[in-house]
Amino acid sequence: MKRTILLLLLLFCLPGTMLMAQDAGISVWDDPMVMFYTVVAFIFITVLLILAVAVYLLQVLNFLVQQQAKDRALKLGIEYVREPGIWERLNAWLWDIAPIEKEKDIMMHHEYDGIRELDNHLPPWWRWLLYITIIFAVVYMVMYHITDSLPMQEEEYATELALADAEMKKMNATESGPVLDETTVVELTDAVSLEEGKKIFISNCASCHKESGAGDIGPNLTDEYWLHGGSIGDLFKVVKNGVPATNMISWAAMLSPKMMQQVSSYILTLKGTNPPNPKEPQGEKYIPMPKETVVDTLTVKASL
Ligand code: HEC
Repeated sequence: MKRTILLLLLLFCLPGTMLMAQDAGISVWDDPMVMFYTVVAFIFITVLLILAVAVYLLQVLNFLVQQQAKDRALKLGIEYVREPGIWERLNAWLWDIAPIEKEKDIMMHHEYDGIRELDNHLPPWWRWLLYITIIFAVVYMVMYHITDSLPMQEEEYATELALADAEMKKMNATESGPVLDETTVVELTDAVSLEEGKKIFISNCASCHKESGAGDIGPNLTDEYWLHGGSIGDLFKVVKNGVPATNMISWAAMLSPKMMQQVSSYILTLKGTNPPNPKEPQGEKYIPMPKETVVDTLTVKASL
């Protein structure tokens, strides 16, 4: 009993300490699935505990009833015969084995070297299993092949694909209308977007780029040197496509374009923060083009 209690305590406390050890910035509880599984696990453990208590109480009750029957038999002066318990009765029903006194009725007539055989019938648990599979097969056949009320695998696959497609479209849709990619992306500067970007960065990118952006497996993101360019479009492109044959994977499947825009914008705010233990500069110094120049070239081009 002591060991069970210890185990239960461990079960309850371990996840707690593990969750507490997580970074204070983002809590795992932000993930709705974590919350869902925790609640389900909690309900499951509670139900198990209630069941255990119920079984224990039933045993106590059974013991009391037997004790009473024994006392009554003693008073009446008759011999006490113990009633079979629920488990014994269930077991007898499941197997339905002929009692030893009746064995001679079901003895088969052949005999080999003194070995004889009893003609016991199939145990009910086995027979019922067979009946249930037959019922299941009929229901399955009618549902899937006759009335078509449930989808076949191919149909299920098609629906899932359609759903995923719709989800993808929703993810790609932005308020501004046109597709958000490296050519159309603009740097976000509002606090809410940057806060979102920071969350995305800490949970997905900090393992390689450090929380401060100082760089570790991945390059330093706080200096002026970039391997793939330092504009918002360049950053978006690297995050979206990754860099083949390096640890920098493509994040397009994990992050929506909006999220990639947020995290790229957040990275741009890290410039010049001079975090401790920075990784040495890699790539070329990037000098942002003044906005006027861009407009000028466009005007010049248009007027030519
Ligand atoms: C598994 C490690 C790893 C993770 C996780 C990771 N990166 Fe990288 N990242 C790298 C490596 C390695 C490079 C350098 C690639 C190269 O050699 O060109 C890189 C390069 C980059 C660059 C280009 C830097 C430059 O100098 O041009 C950006 C921007 C970047 N990562 C952003 C991110 C963002 C945003 C995330 C999270 C969504 C992320 N990274 C997650 C390893 C990682």
